[in-house]
Amino acid sequence: MMSLSNQKILVIDYGSQYTQLIARRIREQQVYCEVYSFNKITKKILYDKTLSGIILSGGPNSVKDKNSPKLDKRILTLGKPIMGICYGLQLLCVEFMGKIGNSKLREYGHSTITINKKSILFDRIKKRNQVWMSHGDHIERKPKGFKITSFSNNKVISSIENYQKNIFGLQFHPEVHHSLQGKKIISNFLFKVCKIKDKFRLENFLSTKIKTLRYELKNKKVICALSGGVDSTVTSFLLHKAIKNNLFCIFVDHGLLRLNESKEVENIFKKKFGKNFKKISASKIFLSKLKKITDPEKKRKIIGKTFIEVFEKEAKKIKNVDYLAQGTLYPDIIESIPFFGGPTAKIKSHHNVGGLPKKMKFKIVEPLKELFKDEVRSLGNKLKINSNLLCRHPFPGPGLAIRIPGEINKKKIYILRKVDDIYIKYLKDNLIYNNIWQAFAVLLPVKSVGVMGDERTYSYCVSLRAVTSVDGMTADFYMFNKKDLTEISKKIISEVKEVNRVLYDFTSKPPGTIEWE
Ligand code: XMP
Repeated sequence: MMSLSNQKILVIDYGSQYTQLIARRIREQQVYCEVYSFNKITKKILYDKTLSGIILSGGPNSVKDKNSPKLDKRILTLGKPIMGICYGLQLLCVEFMGKIGNSKLREYGHSTITINKKSILFDRIKKRNQVWMSHGDHIERKPKGFKITSFSNNKVISSIENYQKNIFGLQFHPEVHHSLQGKKIISNFLFKVCKIKDKFRLENFLSTKIKTLRYELKNKKVICALSGGVDSTVTSFLLHKAIKNNLFCIFVDHGLLRLNESKEVENIFKKKFGKNFKKISASKIFLSKLKKITDPEKKRKIIGKTFIEVFEKEAKKIKNVDYLAQGTLYPDIIESIPFFGGPTAKIKSHHNVGGLPKKMKFKIVEPLKELFKDEVRSLGNKLKINSNLLCRHPFPGPGLAIRIPGEINKKKIYILRKVDDIYIKYLKDNLIYNNIWQAFAVLLPVKSVGVMGDERTYSYCVSLRAVTSVDGMTADFYMFNKKDLTEISKKIISEVKEVNRVLYDFTSKPPGTIEWE
């Protein structure tokens, strides 16, 4: 396997909710990093010759607890720079005979630190800085051989270092954007302490990946399920560049896509993959299985299961397939690190083509698994994928089924498609689309009385949803101008006769979710 970079940062995860942000901040500075749970560190990871520095994340535990995760002492023998954040700092403190105490005063949220000693980590940073704190424990006695480099305004030690050993610790979270100089601190660690020179560039990623895929998949057949979404599209284009006609793509149209979407997807992929692309029009099967189903979870499960059945049947027709391609991204991998509390509470069972046919007996190839979403979009650009496709808002695997609360039927899908199309077209025509992370309409299982001309109407209500978000994990509703909402509502009601009332959803996530089901 070729290396994606000659210099790599290892992030050891102790269960912090911010670990993914650490990886993100490193990658924003074009440095390659990998995240591993503290209990999954192998010799291979530690003795990798590209390893250039180690970051220990925060975590929910107290180092004083008997069963809390311990520091892997092997990392201290490598002679590589180490930076511990919050729990990571506390682990280092205990290791070097410092003392950790429980704060009466929990520091949580915004805080200010004052730098009291010169430090390479704080190079070109103001003496007083706003940072983000999230800790109960704190350093009571500094570890041996370390100096204190800053205090918080509550007089809590907020950073320490042993410059000779190249070991640093921060009580605050530089990865959180409320730490105003956090990016600079991480950059100082990467470039001044770890001396990173080899940047992670997508051009290099692309050429290395193609070579690796060609080597690994030589003379092998790969099958890929397409949804028309960004991840599966980029996965297929990348694989096609590497293995050409050994790639076979299947697009299952479940009949729950947006207006004209099925045709658009078909046109793009047919042009690209020719005979190796197959569209399966399966809306009849899906709709018959969804008949009379109103429970959101049941809908999701039925769609996921039916998708596997249809895909599997089709896949079997292609003989001697070795691999199944999946559009897994790096955040999917980080999020799936199991932790003490076990899996987090399940809110909805997700369905997407990337996570589907696990029971099929193929080996898995995940060519995007080192990338974040925005990098996948940039890679798509480099692969010359139509920018309309790349910049589309996310669309859920179960499609319009989860935007029609209650029973689904052809008529409702027809109405929702028209409404959604008017709404999205308006956003695009008025250059609002790109300011929004995701926008869509929901057809409510409610009819209401209205009056049009001199006539009484009794028709459907729709709700419009638009949110801003970074990753879909949390979201804020988008604040439209009154003029835009008025125009969109007028257009929908005048052009879709089955609808006489338009609502706007003013719910953020949490407490709502983005989709309605
Ligand atoms: P929620 O509704 O959970 O949605 O706040 C967060 C993001 O995930 C998308 N979503 C899905 N994507 N398969 C997908 O590929 C699914 O089953 C699924 N359910 C929700 C949703 O559109 C939003 O972007």
